Amino acid sequence: MNKKNILIFPGDEIGPEIITEAIKVIDYFNESKLTNISYDFADIGGAALDKYDTPIKTDDLDKAKKSDAILLAAVGTPKYDNNPREKKPEYGLLALRKHLNLFINIRPIFVFNSLLGYSSLKSELISDLDIVIIRELIGDVYFGEPRGFKDINGDRVGYNTMLYSESEVQRITQFAIEAAKNRQKQITSIDKANVLECSQLWRQTVDRMMIKHSDIDLQHMYVDNAAMQIIKNPKQFDVILTPNLFGDILSDAASMLTGSIGLLPSASLSNDTGMFEPIHGSAPDIAGQGIVNPLAMILSLAMMFEYTLDKPELSKIIKKAVDEVLNDGYFTKDLSSKDFISTSQMGDKILERIKKQC
Ligand code: IPM
Ligand code: MG
Repeated sequence: MNKKNILIFPGDEIGPEIITEAIKVIDYFNESKLTNISYDFADIGGAALDKYDTPIKTDDLDKAKKSDAILLAAVGTPKYDNNPREKKPEYGLLALRKHLNLFINIRPIFVFNSLLGYSSLKSELISDLDIVIIRELIGDVYFGEPRGFKDINGDRVGYNTMLYSESEVQRITQFAIEAAKNRQKQITSIDKANVLECSQLWRQTVDRMMIKHSDIDLQHMYVDNAAMQIIKNPKQFDVILTPNLFGDILSDAASMLTGSIGLLPSASLSNDTGMFEPIHGSAPDIAGQGIVNPLAMILSLAMMFEYTLDKPELSKIIKKAVDEVLNDGYFTKDLSSKDFISTSQMGDKILERIKKQC
């Protein structure tokens, strides 16, 4: 069996707790000879700042680039909130995304049947919900130059540049087109073209790309309207194609449809590698208490098997296990504040259900 090397970044706060549960699954697959994965660890974010005074070491960026896939748990800790940009934990994550050219971010929004009653929306609005958010990940105001702080007539200002090139829009649109072809053939492209030049270029470029794809139904939607429509009638969406910043915001909003942000995984892809991480953050308020939901992390591992390690059957096994454990009524505290199991008990339950299938 082909050996695969993966690099694991446990990161900050709840990161190490949830990664432990994903590793239980990897270890089991290795023991059962279903995989031959060797994994190594590296620090990112506050964990790296503590040790090396940088949110990610250049060596580790290179190590990540050489690995077959990357698993990342969570980045961010209030300890370094007031640091300058290059010394903030989040800078490590952004540097990693950029260094690896991970321009595609896939955030599937789906609802487990057993959790229909847990959404903030009525269950008929979300039953069988199946949306995929395709977020451009290494452009936009996140990376645009110039940026910084300066003085204008004695008044201090902070400024950023929202910027997309046609080629950046083209490559993410191409990915969304392929995704839509395997789904309901519908793309909603998000922008703020009524106000922003950057969005106008986005919209024109998407339109030009779509001329050749008349089998796909394309609509453009302003981001403010999209925020409303996601809450009003989420099932109208199939593929949501979005710039970086709008995608960051809309994906948090969409996560609430599913009951808990602790359930949603993501994949970030370049043309040759992938990084897999939950869409949630590092949740300092609940770190270290054994109450975190590890399912977004475990489902991110499932996405790794599907997208990068070429083992879709293992991805299916993990997803089925998660579904079954939730059907059995086992929940972590984010879903059930009175009657709940711990983070590690949830990991064990998932493993039990995986073992039954192997
Ligand atoms: C996300 C996160 C990150 C982002 C942060 C941690 C930098 O919110 O992946 O959605 O803004 O992209
Ligand atoms: Mg976010």
